[in-house]
Amino acid sequence: MLNKLPLVLLALLRATPAAAATSYDLIESHKGASFFDGWTFAQGYDNTTNGDVVWANSSKVAYVNGQGKAILKVDNSTEVPYNEKRESIKLYSNNYYRPGTVWVFDASHVPVGCSVWPAVFTQGTNWPEHGEIDIFEVVNNDQMNQYALHTTAGCVASPGSGGQTGTQGFAECDQNQNSGSGCTVRDVDTASAGKGFNDAQGGVYVAAFETDGIRIWFFTRSKIPSALTADATTIDLDSLGTPSARYNAGQGGCDIEKFSGSQRLTLDITLCGDFAGSPTILQQTCPALVTPQTCYTTYVLKPESYADAWFEINYLNVYGTSGSIDPALSVNGGQGGISSSASSSRPTTSSAIGSGTSTARTTSTTTGNAGNALPTQTVSSASRVKYWFGGAGWAVGLAVVVLAS
Ligand SMILES: *[C@@H]1O[C@H](CO)[C@@H](O)[C@H](O)[C@H]1NC(C)=O
Ligand SMILES: *[C@@H]1O[C@H](CO)[C@@H](O)[C@H](O)[C@H]1NC(C)=O
Ligand SMILES: *[C@@H]1O[C@H](CO)[C@@H](O)[C@H](O)[C@H]1NC(C)=O
Repeated sequence: MLNKLPLVLLALLRATPAAAATSYDLIESHKGASFFDGWTFAQGYDNTTNGDVVWANSSKVAYVNGQGKAILKVDNSTEVPYNEKRESIKLYSNNYYRPGTVWVFDASHVPVGCSVWPAVFTQGTNWPEHGEIDIFEVVNNDQMNQYALHTTAGCVASPGSGGQTGTQGFAECDQNQNSGSGCTVRDVDTASAGKGFNDAQGGVYVAAFETDGIRIWFFTRSKIPSALTADATTIDLDSLGTPSARYNAGQGGCDIEKFSGSQRLTLDITLCGDFAGSPTILQQTCPALVTPQTCYTTYVLKPESYADAWFEINYLNVYGTSGSIDPALSVNGGQGGISSSASSSRPTTSSAIGSGTSTARTTSTTTGNAGNALPTQTVSSASRVKYWFGGAGWAVGLAVVVLAS
């Protein structure tokens, strides 16, 4: 079939970021005073997972501390009046990334506590058609991270002979099965999330998004490979050992290019909602709710519930090639992020705010919720892109080329 493709397409295929690369160069670095450059703050309510938060961008939820670390937190200084939501934070990367991208996330503290639901994940423009990769996700007082992909039907988790150190949960990535859990892998390290993570001074997550598969590694602080530093200008995936979670692209696995569009990175902390607030999930690591109290009335109204509900981030680096950033989908054609050499602040554009894809981290169907009211019919790639860009026609031509490749 390949030899029937026009030459121009073959050229495009060759130009696609290589699947076989094991080493990638630093293309973006978020740390210190410029950490918040290159992101867009979400606004409004959590209309994707029904959390009891309102997304904010004040110093109550986002700042750089005295040690130059970025703090992303739930507001823990406000008594919330009944029926109102608590302020928290959700950041979207201004850039969308193609396969051939590696995200490295180093934190010394992650949010923990009853009702708390932090996540570091990626999604394509249209959900679940364009996929979701959950890199870090945990609820309440759990101490073991859960990895997942969320896709349409046809993608199955297959760690293959390369293996993974995590425990396989559901193998089926189809969002329409297993109550929307996606294909899950649970880390076996009790320092991979929650109090265990924080007691160990945190650690590093490395997520590699490549055409031949998706791999995610976790290293607790004391076991971080010496080459993995904030200033490292390259990353060699071959040196990292067996990943915690592995989703191979091969036979019986998941065709990454078919099930994942370019991905946008998201960091957020929501409260209660479809996953953390489910009474059965909640009582796995927190006291059972006392009728008629709910997750919201028990926790959200009180600031003291959130003394530990914060991320402290040392750095977030992105490694890849010149083809990693998708100009058609990224804010300002890919100039909305920061380059590894640029450190100047740039104004945050708001054009990506509210292009809210539905997140998958639901355990129940949220019928009637606006966050899931996305068009699911198959339309042409061009009109899908156009839909998400609210008619930014200039993006369409480029997107078609990207999708065709
Ligand atoms: C924060 O929100 C305000 C009001 O919604 C907006 O004017 C401002 O640009 C936002 N700042 C950032 C950094 O997004
Ligand atoms: C809010 O969180 C900070 C950081 O954990 C803590 O020092 C402070 O005491 C908390 N405030 C309240 C009112 O719980
Ligand atoms: C979710 O809320 C945001 C902000 O209020 C809004 O712009 C967006 O359209 C909403 N998404 C959906 C799918 O309703």
